[in-house]
Amino acid sequence: MIYLDHGATSFPKAPGVSAAVAQFIDEASGNPGRGGHRLTIKASRAIEDARTAVAELLDADPERTLLGPSATFWLNNILCGRLGPGDRVVTSALEHNSVMRPLRWLEAQRGITISVVEGVSPAGVPTAAEVQEIVGQAPTALVVLSHASNVSGAVIPVEEVALRIAPTPVVVDGAQTAGTLPFAFSRSGLAAFVCSGHKGLQGPSGTGIALLAEDFEIQPLIRGGTGSNSESEDMPVMLPDLLEAGTPNGPGIAGLGAACTWLTDRTVEAIQDHERALINRCITGMRTIPGLRLTGWVEDMPQTGVLSFTIDREDVGELATWLDRERGIALRAGLHCAPAAHRRLGTFPTGTLRVGVGPQTTEDEVDALVTALDERCG
Ligand code: ALA
Repeated sequence: MIYLDHGATSFPKAPGVSAAVAQFIDEASGNPGRGGHRLTIKASRAIEDARTAVAELLDADPERTLLGPSATFWLNNILCGRLGPGDRVVTSALEHNSVMRPLRWLEAQRGITISVVEGVSPAGVPTAAEVQEIVGQAPTALVVLSHASNVSGAVIPVEEVALRIAPTPVVVDGAQTAGTLPFAFSRSGLAAFVCSGHKGLQGPSGTGIALLAEDFEIQPLIRGGTGSNSESEDMPVMLPDLLEAGTPNGPGIAGLGAACTWLTDRTVEAIQDHERALINRCITGMRTIPGLRLTGWVEDMPQTGVLSFTIDREDVGELATWLDRERGIALRAGLHCAPAAHRRLGTFPTGTLRVGVGPQTTEDEVDALVTALDERCG
């Protein structure tokens, strides 16, 4: 099988991940922070080691590095834990539903207002100046932006935005960039950075991360047991406990820690170089195929290892099925849970076919995709 769906999730996982998951289950399956017996202590240590590995990779304060079930969970927690009646939010036209659905709910239920920066670029990527202009038009409680589109792979200059509009808080959905673009939270100027653990970080599904800046406070989305301050029926105020109620996904978090340690050793810079070379190779090959259109792609634009395309007179869903059944090549077709981005890029409602490469993808695999497309459509 040729796996080219890293935009959805990574496969295979980083070396050491499955062993760390199994080791947690077999040797450390106590409930972390709950009680004082040896299995509890082992579980706590595994989770805190993983937290340290994540914080080290993303250059964040471990106490403000939060571990939970998904990027979606943390985006909901930040947006719903921060925004109230009358608040204005500025966002891009390239957002995933993990941002747009909570924002639309908050608009309907709490009366927030939403301003979308369409971006002049055909890729829909807003410049920092465009965001600054919209933010300057009215008081803004929060700016929320994808670090890169999960449809096109186009990168939004989020750090430049944060610099220009400070002190307005900027929250970034880094689901498509963590582990694939070099990033240091401590120097980013962002109020919060959220990402999945299972995409570019190559950890298990069911893991997600939020990094919070020193002065950025949010209310919890869920409340419950933390193993700390158990005498009180109120949530503890200290992090990470305030925002991590309930028994955590120990096996998943242990696997995520192993993945982050592997990434720190291999370096995100090396992975970025590898993926950039593969995407450039893919683009060069695809541009020779008649009727193939790259979606939201502009020459020399910063890009992740994700790329979308359509082919004239081909149904993207049928083409994806043919690639899978006849050639053993896995891609994702459709709207990629990002209808707003597809509307902006002119591919709504039919969507696109999306390629996503990873650290272990080879040139031969990319070439096999281009050859298959050429044979069917060329
Ligand atoms: N958000 C994931 C994707 O882009 C699942 O496919």
